[in-house]
Parts: sequence; structure tokens; C-alpha cells
Amino acid sequence: MAKAAKALRLEALAAQIRVCTKCPLCQSRTLAVPGDGKPSARVMLIGEAPGREEDETGHPFVGAAGRFLDQVLEVTGINRDDLFITNIVKCRPPNNRTPRAGEVETCTSNYLFEQIELINPALIMLLGGVPAKKMLGVKSVNEARGRMIERVGRQYLVGYHPAVRFYREDMGEKVEEDFGLLKRVLKK
Ligand code: URA
Repeated sequence: MAKAAKALRLEALAAQIRVCTKCPLCQSRTLAVPGDGKPSARVMLIGEAPGREEDETGHPFVGAAGRFLDQVLEVTGINRDDLFITNIVKCRPPNNRTPRAGEVETCTSNYLFEQIELINPALIMLLGGVPAKKMLGVKSVNEARGRMIERVGRQYLVGYHPAVRFYREDMGEKVEEDFGLLKRVLKK
């Protein structure tokens, strides 16, 4: 598919996501959050699900976790505009509970997998246990972080979710390490 056609299809998918009623999360969301970034991004970041501020604005990683992510990107020298940032599920689960298996299945099979095909990134960074489990079948972030993982012709890195810092302050350093590795891989 030509570059312009891909960008149009991504926009059409985003429009579908904004009015999606395929799973129960549509009942409690304010705005769905399709994802932000360049259709030609070399790197995709995939988080878990929108939180409160994402639900209010329709944009990914704009709340507390997003502000920490921005800080980490800045210290590692990665430009947010060079990434495509999205989530496993596009609507906020009530009280930020973990998305359920059926919600994950519906949202990824209808939207995320096609976003990945269209963007065709050189590298996908999975933030946290939910995306790591869904995309790679791993049980924990710890088991998978710190190395490149190849699956069906795609390259993945797994990192801690930036929000871990709010539960355990010492984990902020681990998030910085994860993005440091991303930066090194991109320089190669
Ligand atoms: N946490 C996520 O996983 N995604 C967001 O978009 C915001 C917070």
C-alpha cells in the first residue's frame, strides 16, 4: 500500500475507534484514544490502556505516567514526535482496572494489529505486563526486558510501564534503563 493510502487508512481506523461499541468499555469512556504519532514512525510504544487524563483528552500518555515518560524521553534524547504511541485497549477501563481478556482480544484484533501492519515499525516497545503478555506471551516484564526479542519478523523491546514509578520510586531508574536501551538500539 502506498504511503498516503496507509496514512488515510490509519485515520479511518482512528475514526472507527472513536465511535467503537464493540466491547463494554465504550459505556464508561469519555473519549476513545486511538494513538498519536507519525504513520511512518520507526518505533511504536504500546502501553496498557488510557487513564483518566487520556480519557478526557483523547490522547495517549498525557497524564502523570505520560509526564514521566516525557521526562525519560528527554533525558534519553528520544523525540516523542518520532514515535507512534498507543495502547493495547483504546478506552479507559473503569477505575483504571486491568483490561479483561475479552476487551484485549476485541481491541487488538480490530484495531491494534492493523495499526502495527500499517505503521510497520522497525521496533515495538511494550510498556508493562499487559502488552508484554498479549504480544509476546511472557508472564512478566522482568523475564523479557533488557534484550531484543524477535517474533514473526518483528522486533520488540519490553520495558517497565512508566507508572511503576508511582508505586515504587526506585523503579524510575529501571524505566530510564529501558529507554536507554531503546536509544542504543536505534543508533545502530
Ligand atoms: N497508561 C497507559 O498505559 N497508557 C496511557 O495512555 C496512559 C497511561
